[in-house]
Amino acid sequence: MTTVTQTWATHPDQFWLRGQAPPALVEYADRLGYWKVYGYPEAVRILADPRTFSSDASRFVPRKDFVEGNLPTMDPPEHHKLRKLVSRAFTPKVVADLEPRIADLTNDLLDRAEADRTADRAEADRTADRAEADRMELVADLAYPLPVIVIAELLGVPSSDRHLFKQWVDGAFSSSEQFSLVEPSEQQQRAMDRAFEQLHHLTDYLGEHAAERRRCPREDLLTKLVEAEVDGERLSDAAVVNFANVLLIAGHITTTMLLGNTVLCLDAHPDVAGRVRADRTLVPATIEESLRFLSPFAALARVTNTDVEVGGARIPAGQMIMVVLAAANRDPRQFTDPNVFDPGRDPNPHLAFGRGIHFCIGAPLARLEGRVALNILLDRFPHLRTDPDEPPTFLPSPNLTGVRALPLLLDRR
Ligand code: HEM
Repeated sequence: MTTVTQTWATHPDQFWLRGQAPPALVEYADRLGYWKVYGYPEAVRILADPRTFSSDASRFVPRKDFVEGNLPTMDPPEHHKLRKLVSRAFTPKVVADLEPRIADLTNDLLDRAEADRTADRAEADRTADRAEADRMELVADLAYPLPVIVIAELLGVPSSDRHLFKQWVDGAFSSSEQFSLVEPSEQQQRAMDRAFEQLHHLTDYLGEHAAERRRCPREDLLTKLVEAEVDGERLSDAAVVNFANVLLIAGHITTTMLLGNTVLCLDAHPDVAGRVRADRTLVPATIEESLRFLSPFAALARVTNTDVEVGGARIPAGQMIMVVLAAANRDPRQFTDPNVFDPGRDPNPHLAFGRGIHFCIGAPLARLEGRVALNILLDRFPHLRTDPDEPPTFLPSPNLTGVRALPLLLDRR
């Protein structure tokens, strides 16, 4: 059963979402010029061995602007030093202390959307267009603003600038094509140029705030970054800005996807939704299963440092590999009935947050935001369902799985 994707039009290249098996566990994509790894044990092996499989794919990117301080693309020992520094800012206590703020924000955002609906209802009553009133758009009303406000507050940049971040980040991830190393199309080139241009707006913006923190320190993460020392040396301006950039982007788009995907999964599986509503201890496991079933980051890049064999394929040194986490998360060798959405899986060792030294630093925060927001949504809305007349729209990128808009009806079916 693959109900979410039977109902809605997801990216055509994400065949795993339709319950289809990969062509092989490991394949070389001629047209693209890199390898794809779809199997679970093969993915785990790659992520566990940074010596053989480097995270520094910058040699395949014509521009080096964002390399310095970009944690996910660093290898040991530099990676270890920077990671240690950031881990101090994301201790379990720092994250746990955010719970009341996340709950308040969720309620405030939903109150604001409710106030807009009340105004719409008055207008609808006036114009006798009643059907328009009882609906929400989950992404705009909650799933986008919640995580972006949380990460902006942590960093110390004004969350009221979030419309700017959205514009820049949407512009950076707007291509629906898989990029090719052998035949970059004109469209790909344009998309790459546009992505760099948009990311530069963001780094310029963060650079101004970082410079301000050097002059006037505050109690925020940006100040910690400008004051931090690695081996007795301060981080360079570029490293601070690139790192803050990763946090700002990784800190919200993924959690936006997680919230939308979880609501979509529950909508497609009303039996599960009924059980979760009745027993909220099931919420954390539901979030984990949503991460497995609709993994927000579908694929991660690695580069081989030596000739190596993976899943029976010989991969020469210097080759790029895309580790397709989302497909590995449906490998029947690891997950029984992988195409069934089942929050009862225990254990559920999905790879949605990666594995090994680069395991997502924000996973505890994302899980907390997911748990708090889903509970409040279920409390406040006894009925939440997708609208057959206004389907969700998905993000265009083949490497992301999430909704860009998710209209929901709030009345009984
Ligand atoms: C559902 C939400 C999220 C998902 C699915 C997700 C997914 C991932 C994945 C797959 C990686 C591994 C990258 C690799 O191995 O190449 C990663 C790393 C990372 N994530 Fe997340 N992430 C989420 C939320 C967050 C949040 C909320 C933050 C920040 C507050 C964050 C910050 C990071 C950072 C800084 C790294 C790099 C860690 C390193 O290289 O050592 N992520 N994330």
